[in-house]
Amino acid sequence: MPVSKDVMIECIDVNKEYRRAGAIIRALVDINISIKSGDFVIVQGPTGCGKSTLLNVMSGLDLPDSGKIIFDGENIARSKEDRLAKIRRQKVGFVFQDFNLVNTLTAIENVEAMLWPTVLRSKEIENRAIAALRDVNMLERKDHFPVEMSGGEKQRVALARAIVGKPRVVFGDEVSGNLDPKSEKEVMELLKQINQDYETTMIIVTHRETVAKYGDNIIKMDKGRII
Ligand SMILES: Nc1ncnc2c1ncn2[C@@H]1O[C@H](COP(=O)(O)OP(=O)(O)OP(=O)(O)O)[C@@H](O)[C@H]1O
Ligand SMILES: [Mg+2]
Repeated sequence: MPVSKDVMIECIDVNKEYRRAGAIIRALVDINISIKSGDFVIVQGPTGCGKSTLLNVMSGLDLPDSGKIIFDGENIARSKEDRLAKIRRQKVGFVFQDFNLVNTLTAIENVEAMLWPTVLRSKEIENRAIAALRDVNMLERKDHFPVEMSGGEKQRVALARAIVGKPRVVFGDEVSGNLDPKSEKEVMELLKQINQDYETTMIIVTHRETVAKYGDNIIKMDKGRII
């Protein structure tokens, strides 16, 4: 069955469980969702409900036990790691709770590093990194190291790094988990702006109600299920 062009990601009957010390944890139970290209989706629910697990299988970081994950028209639920790595590199950007910047690199070097290895000329890499830092209002801090930045500033650099490769989808896991309310607002508004300017599909998971309001489409989870 052909997938309609404007569907970015579809989960069909997705299940995943973890086995730990004899216990079975059903992290994802019969998940069915369809996300359109350009959507701004918030996945919200209490701690342990399966949000990160869902994000990981939708983004090709992990595989489900059963079901299909149709990513940009391709079922990736049984794909090999090299194929998943290629899809992630070409089509996906990630933003995590703890920024994951390289402390020995400046802001611009952190962003440029996403484009290595590449066929691009170094001037082109620099130009793209400058454009991405400008998009997150961090250009004037381009030569600063992470240790010289606040949490909100670090997350804005991490956001520049996520978008510099012009991904189809940005996945965020608790992007404001380490931020104060003002920085949370800045980061969420930047995600919204990027979503509108570049039609980048945004899929942001959070347990916070204050983040949920930024989504056009809110998916609520509880105990591994969509509710
Ligand atoms: N690698 C793992 N091994 C065993 N159990 C796991 C593993 N990863 C997650 N789990 C369990 O699966 C369930 C879902 O975890 P998940 O991390 O997806 O929840 P979450 O909604 O992201 O929670 P939080 O809001 O705390 O980040 C939890 O019960 C968790 O303990
Ligand atoms: Mg989580």
